[in-house]
Amino acid sequence: MIIAPSLLASDYSRFGKEAERVAASGAEWLHLDIMDGQFVPNISFGPGVVGAVRPFAKQLFFDVHLMCGQPEILLEPFVKAGANQLTIHVELADKVPQLLWKIKALGLKVGLAVNPPTAITAAQPYLDMIDCLLVMTVNPGFGGQSFIHECLPKVQQAEAWRRERKLGYRIEVDGGINYETTAECARAGADTFVAGTSLFGAHSLKAAVSKMRKIAHAYDPAFADLKV
Ligand code: DX5
Ligand code: ZN
Repeated sequence: MIIAPSLLASDYSRFGKEAERVAASGAEWLHLDIMDGQFVPNISFGPGVVGAVRPFAKQLFFDVHLMCGQPEILLEPFVKAGANQLTIHVELADKVPQLLWKIKALGLKVGLAVNPPTAITAAQPYLDMIDCLLVMTVNPGFGGQSFIHECLPKVQQAEAWRRERKLGYRIEVDGGINYETTAECARAGADTFVAGTSLFGAHSLKAAVSKMRKIAHAYDPAFADLKV
């Protein structure tokens, strides 16, 4: 089980310090939301900012979520910025296979994201090429939205395919993830939890990360005895 705090919900005036806080919280990943004002109706930050934050959180896995219409122009810049995984959206249709190969060729982990209105079957042709399947549980563009419960069957389907086809991709959920929805997603088969508002809004980020992890582990057969 991996907890990935999303920098989008942190204090924008001190990204370096916030990344340091995530590194000290016990989280394994830092989730970085890249929005281009075209694929989604919002703009966040780009490779320059990610590169500047990198030295503050050397041990964290940088999980870069590209909500961008033209990710092809950003892949190399994000490699240079220190990304470990690049996730592109399946809604980019014809562009998807080439983008996935390019990310792999650059030596990074490969992620594929599916928006709430998109059927999970859109990701099916790519399952053996990816390291992470990101099931969006809100419509991308903004933090602080409510979890869309209708997305849960997609997590179950992703888990069923992984089991049947003996594949190893992670199943990541993103949007409206709090303690309650962590439990629901973990029960459905998710193993990687992106959370912005709920974690950064907590009194102690460290305590919140550890509580979220415990809740997720409670649904992992390997940790069945753990009390939350
Ligand atoms: C939404 C982003 C999310 C966002 C989640 O467009 O992809 O990663 O940061 O934020 P919360 O946890 O606040 O829903
Ligand atoms: Zn995201």
